[in-house]
Amino acid sequence: MRLLTTAVAALALTVGAQVATAAPVEIKFSHVVAENTPKGQMATKFRDLVAERLAGKVEVKVFPSSQLFGDNKVLEAMLLGDVQMAAPSLSKFQKYTKQLQIFDLPFLFKDMDAVERFQNGPDGQKLLRSLEKKGLVGLGYLHNGMKQLSANDALHVPADAESKKFRIMTSDVLQAQFEAVKAVPLKKPFSEVFTLLQTKAIDGQENTWSNIFSKKFFEVQPFITETNHGVLDYLVVTSAEFWLSLDEGLRTEVQKALNEAIAHGNKIAAEKAEGDKKAIADSGRSEIINISDAERQLWVNAMKPVWKKFEGQIGADLIKAAEASNN
Ligand code: LMR
Repeated sequence: MRLLTTAVAALALTVGAQVATAAPVEIKFSHVVAENTPKGQMATKFRDLVAERLAGKVEVKVFPSSQLFGDNKVLEAMLLGDVQMAAPSLSKFQKYTKQLQIFDLPFLFKDMDAVERFQNGPDGQKLLRSLEKKGLVGLGYLHNGMKQLSANDALHVPADAESKKFRIMTSDVLQAQFEAVKAVPLKKPFSEVFTLLQTKAIDGQENTWSNIFSKKFFEVQPFITETNHGVLDYLVVTSAEFWLSLDEGLRTEVQKALNEAIAHGNKIAAEKAEGDKKAIADSGRSEIINISDAERQLWVNAMKPVWKKFEGQIGADLIKAAEASNN
């Protein structure tokens, strides 16, 4: 009897010791932007919420500014288990699904409220699952904002962009968008954009106020045209293998912390769209060009035919649903 008691006690001690020393599940969160951006702030908020609520069980480590993986490698790395979470822009998923290309269609959403309505609606929510066949799970959308065009020269009308080289994200829709104005699009990673602009290897690029400000593109681009021609948002993503390896209770807690962090990031996105634009204007380094309605219409006329080209891949009904979110 005593032997048994001792054995049980010894077992309890061993199990106890194992529990006490079990390492927390590690979530490496890799992204490409600076920390003072909507995505950077969302990631740190997520890390902090998890540390507060799930200490000892889960630990989030954030790697900003392409320190761990650049945007062209992160999804492959995720499928290999080298990183557990990321939030690439919706433009960077075309190897994994054609449907998310909808977010790149020029002049589809009139503002971020429309984007939000579409993402929260049934079609947007269904798109979160469009990567499942490839082993990836969409955990939620995160906003950055509407894109603007920056360049070496003042861009007022589409003809001003002709023959100019623009860096784009890895998206065929964005390629077609620039080809529609007879410009030359070049797919390049985000981490290379500043140097490409600074050395004048390219003439311009498209991005949000927050990215133009935080990565100092405005210091090497004398003109920024406020076109609001497209949206740059993110998909927070993980691998199915990692996600399903978490027990259900933990998964629910992690998702809850992430949802709160995303809400925080979205609030910052709205503030930054205004604040960073103002900071750029105040810097005097770059002139912000406000185009007239008639000029803007010329951009719409030139770029909107791109929709038809991708309708087959994206789905005409999905495009209609997205358009309806403008009302
Ligand atoms: C870009 O490549 O321009 C953006 O997707 C960067 C980002 O993650 O905001």
